[in-house]
Amino acid sequence: MSEFKKKIALVTGAGDGIGRATAVALSFKGAYVIVTDKNQKTGKDTVKEILSQGGEAEFYKLDVSSNNEIQKVILKIFKKYGSIDFAVNNAGIGGSFDGIHNLDIDDWNNTININLTGVFSCMQVQIKCMLKNGFGRIVNVASMAGIKGVGGGSAYCASKHGVIGLTKSAAIEYGDHNIRVNAVCPGFIETKLLEGVPKKILEFNTYVNPMKRIGNTKEVADSIVWLLCDKSSFINGTSMSIDGGYGNV
Ligand code: NAI
Repeated sequence: MSEFKKKIALVTGAGDGIGRATAVALSFKGAYVIVTDKNQKTGKDTVKEILSQGGEAEFYKLDVSSNNEIQKVILKIFKKYGSIDFAVNNAGIGGSFDGIHNLDIDDWNNTININLTGVFSCMQVQIKCMLKNGFGRIVNVASMAGIKGVGGGSAYCASKHGVIGLTKSAAIEYGDHNIRVNAVCPGFIETKLLEGVPKKILEFNTYVNPMKRIGNTKEVADSIVWLLCDKSSFINGTSMSIDGGYGNV
């Protein structure tokens, strides 16, 4: 995949979990990786990991809950490097786990703001940059919760359904500008995010999963890289399940 050489790849929430694995996978393919996260320490650790393996990367602090910060940081990156070729909008939180009648409006707003508005704001400025160069590939990290309902996780579920809608709309708007936009829908993946999921739910979902296990971050990262590369050249606006077949149950 020499198409990644000299390309600038930006990943949000790249300090941990799926974002970190994606940043590392992109660097293995030769991309210059812009590692962003709200957490400076873990973000810089990702950069260290990439550099220690001979890759190229730089860290920028970016909290996707702030539209202001998103605009400022991404435009700064574009000005410095002259392009944002690949973007992976991954930063997200699980949010509160409770029934709708108990859900605090502030928890709802926070989850929607980070998981959905954050993706919108990032895409808005990424697309402006990509339009200038006539090239761009975006993958948004949605979830199985963007396809199925999640009892007790309504804000998370609504935010991820929103990411899929946003992805489909962007694919239609920019397909003829050489900008492809897709989403991935991971099932349960072993990361810190699962710490907030009740154990009973996790066990049940592992039991009903056709592959009887949860996934790992590399499995998601490799699928994201594939959606960014030319091997998926006619795939646009899709939401790819990475869930061991759980979505079919
Ligand atoms: P994680 O908790 O391991 O990593 C999330 C990263 O995002 C962390 O580095 C964190 O600092 C960063 N982050 C959180 N809020 C942020 C903000 N406001 N601005 C910038 N960075 C922020 O979680 P994981 O599992 O790697 O999640 C990544 C994405 O994958 C999320 O969008 C999540 O919803 C999605 N996902 C995860 C699944 C799982 O089972 N782990 C399943 C389906 C989707």
